[in-house]
Amino acid sequence: MVALSENETSAVRAASDRSQIVIDKARKVYVTGSGQTLALESVSTSIAKGEFVCVVGPSGCGKTTLLWALSGLHPLTSGQVLLDGKPVIGPQPQIGMVFQEANLLPWRNILKNILYPLEIKGLRVSDYKDRIDRLLEKTGLRGFETMYPREFSGGMRQRASLVRCLSFDPAVMLLDEPFGALDSFTRDEMNLLLLDLWAEQQKTIVFVTHSITEAIFLADRVLVMTPRPGRVVREVKIDLPRPRTLDMQATPYFIELTSDIKTLINSSAQK
Ligand SMILES: Nc1ncnc2c1ncn2[C@@H]1O[C@H](COP(=O)(O)OP(=O)(O)OP(=O)(O)O)[C@@H](O)[C@H]1O
Ligand SMILES: [Mg+2]
Repeated sequence: MVALSENETSAVRAASDRSQIVIDKARKVYVTGSGQTLALESVSTSIAKGEFVCVVGPSGCGKTTLLWALSGLHPLTSGQVLLDGKPVIGPQPQIGMVFQEANLLPWRNILKNILYPLEIKGLRVSDYKDRIDRLLEKTGLRGFETMYPREFSGGMRQRASLVRCLSFDPAVMLLDEPFGALDSFTRDEMNLLLLDLWAEQQKTIVFVTHSITEAIFLADRVLVMTPRPGRVVREVKIDLPRPRTLDMQATPYFIELTSDIKTLINSSAQK
């Protein structure tokens, strides 16, 4: 075992003075015609400003539920989320989201898709033009602005959705398996691009993924969730230097940590 000690968990907790996001005993029960589903149970943690946190766990363990609760778009059944000390109730203007499907509007060209959040928020495009130009350059989308989503590859669509998310300069980015549908080469490329954007833009990131490798590669800290009802069974601080490089995935530390987290998830699933 390389990094799953309780000491690390408490060290992570000690960082809560700088917390931008606090999750306090989050519990979510979905009620449907066929009964109730306990999707989240007593999830508590805090996330520092500028921190990169990944949430990893098996399908159905409540990762998306947690992310929607952070966004304020879906309320918790009990418990609360604080953003900069204030309870999150309803949509938050300083949060940007990226989903597994790029969710670009097919009838708008790429630039018009990227400008969409500004329109919704009533922000002046001219105030953000330089910012968006730089983001287009950085993500390799300069020159493609007038193309339509159907003319883009999956990777290009997700680049556009990253630019759209960052267009209005949100303080927090919430990403739900944004690269899950991409082939492994494109996924590596997108991971490196996201790390580059994060280092430059200094956002707080909460990134949901099925992939333990992706979580370790990206994060400062990984929250490991158990199968339903979703709980955070461990918080794992990732001691890899930055900037991260793909060859780090072949180091003994990385391989051992991957195996430890896999074992933790499997053993929680059998309980
Ligand atoms: N709107 C809903 N109504 C009823 N049940 C729901 C709803 N959304 C999610 N659930 C249930 O809550 C549980 C957690 O779902 P959630 O989508 O948060 O899991 P997840 O970890 O994101 O899964 P995946 O990795 O497959 O995306 C699941 O059992 C799911 O069926
Ligand atoms: Mg999900």
